[in-house]
Amino acid sequence: MCGIIGYTGKEPALPLILGGLERLEYRGYDSAGVAIIEDGRLIVEKRVGKIRELVKSLWGKPYEGKTGIGHTRWATHGEPSTENAHPHTDEKREFAVVHNGIIENYLELRGELEREGVSFRSNTDTEVIAHLIAKSYRGDLLEAVLEVVKKLRGAFAFAVITVHEPGRIIGVKQGSPLVVGISEGENFLASDIPAILPYTRRVITLSDGEIADLTPEGVNIYDFNGNPITKDITIVPWDLISAEKAGFKHFMLKEIYEQPKAVGDTIRGLLSPAEELPFSLKEFRRVLVIACGTSYHAGLIGKSWIEKYTGVPTEVVYASEFRYGDFPVSEEDLIIGISQSGETIDTKFAINFAKDKGARTLAVVNVVGSSIDREADYTLHTHAGPEIGVAATKTFTAQLTALYFLAASNHGERDKLIAELMKMPARIEAVLEKAEDVERIAQKFMKKKDFLYLGRYLSYPIALEGALKLKEISYIHAEGYPAGEMKHGPIALIDENMPVVVVCPQDRVYDKTLSNVEEVRTRKGIVISVGFEGDERLEKVSREFISVPPVEEDFTPFVTVVPLQLLAYYIASRLGLDVDQPRNLAKTVTVE
Ligand code: F6R
Repeated sequence: MCGIIGYTGKEPALPLILGGLERLEYRGYDSAGVAIIEDGRLIVEKRVGKIRELVKSLWGKPYEGKTGIGHTRWATHGEPSTENAHPHTDEKREFAVVHNGIIENYLELRGELEREGVSFRSNTDTEVIAHLIAKSYRGDLLEAVLEVVKKLRGAFAFAVITVHEPGRIIGVKQGSPLVVGISEGENFLASDIPAILPYTRRVITLSDGEIADLTPEGVNIYDFNGNPITKDITIVPWDLISAEKAGFKHFMLKEIYEQPKAVGDTIRGLLSPAEELPFSLKEFRRVLVIACGTSYHAGLIGKSWIEKYTGVPTEVVYASEFRYGDFPVSEEDLIIGISQSGETIDTKFAINFAKDKGARTLAVVNVVGSSIDREADYTLHTHAGPEIGVAATKTFTAQLTALYFLAASNHGERDKLIAELMKMPARIEAVLEKAEDVERIAQKFMKKKDFLYLGRYLSYPIALEGALKLKEISYIHAEGYPAGEMKHGPIALIDENMPVVVVCPQDRVYDKTLSNVEEVRTRKGIVISVGFEGDERLEKVSREFISVPPVEEDFTPFVTVVPLQLLAYYIASRLGLDVDQPRNLAKTVTVE
């Protein structure tokens, strides 16, 4: 979940690395650091806190070195501190390493090194890499790295530089993401493409078990045995403009407003022959959907659509639970892994596990070329563009689009269903026009300590998603619950202080949900409802009523989720919180 960047070329490396780190900050932000090779020595600067703290500490220090590496950290081993921030160096400060992921056998390696007299400065797993490389170095950095990777276990990516070979960076990928950016007389290494987009759109995506050897003149790729590998260069289709805020206060708000486009682009993308699947869902005995967080919520809605349009029994499982459960998986199953980043390690491992059992695997991912995209047998891409805000918004509605498209494509009335889906961008647009109403409600209830979110059928996962959005960016406790389950426990929580957000479109469970609204009212709970325009029955029993345009039952999640995203956004923003980078979270979760 940390972010890595490296630069070697003709320009001073420092500003390029700091710029790249700012674009990677969404991956982790408890501390940051850089190492630059300057006049034959290593300059290492690290700070606890956000990248701006590191930038401040470097003001007035115009380092000119043309090779360097940088890191933004999301702590796993060792608390956030200057000692534990990356880069880490060997004892003589001749080698510097930045690392993302976990070295599982680091304690064993550290013990061996300490017995040999090496003294450690940090509590991290990363530091062992720097010492091991220094010990193995006999004049060729690549040789030393090849020797060391054989000793490391776990899922990781790292980059290393040395004063002995200024101009050279070696990058290693095994489990965590790493891309190489190619340019004229300069080359880059980064955890993610947006970090290097201002400088180049020519990218090599490394696969597990690959090593990149960068100098200003070129890039060579090897396997872990040192055999050269030929890789294709991809031209990244995004431009930087789409990764900037475009006048919005936060990326999250911009991304909420980009949903009509994300949904439209996803439909257009899926209609292209390149995305056509060579099988029907009806061939399978069962569909198993595996995902985490928001992607899991999309999966819950996808399940209902798949079962409705194909009749194939579908289960949805958290990837982290699937891996360690005893789920019987066979060739008769289709496994659908949903992941915005395409790098979530639990989802990735679950897909690999299912593949090993002979199941066919289908990924729904946003980041083209990500690990899950490459490892699944087939992929449906969500064309939402880069999502920078840590809380997922436009990628959620894009995932819904892909899942509906998939379910509908397996039904006799495919074209009619997809024509209905194509109306969603306009419907979402109409919801966004009511953003001011949601902002007013946010202001009224932003001081509340707990929220309950209720919904039934397709609105139940939307209740879960609304609660997740609120807790992750506003730090307010929120719980999503099936409305019908409320009387089995959560009803005890309801009193005059409890806002209860009820997702209540006019669908098959409308009357049932309305009865639940009455139960909340009877206990003096504050009902904030989301329902169809003109629904006077619902409006009358609600303290606050947020209207969305009426849509067919299948499509209600597209319109009901948007006010909940806005509610969470406006509460967090009015509380003055860091909406795009909430505490303790990271955009890409590459640890188990
Ligand atoms: C919530 C959120 C997370 C992610 C989860 C899975 O707003 O963003 O819950 O949905 O970490 O991430 P991906 O979809 O990248 O696998």
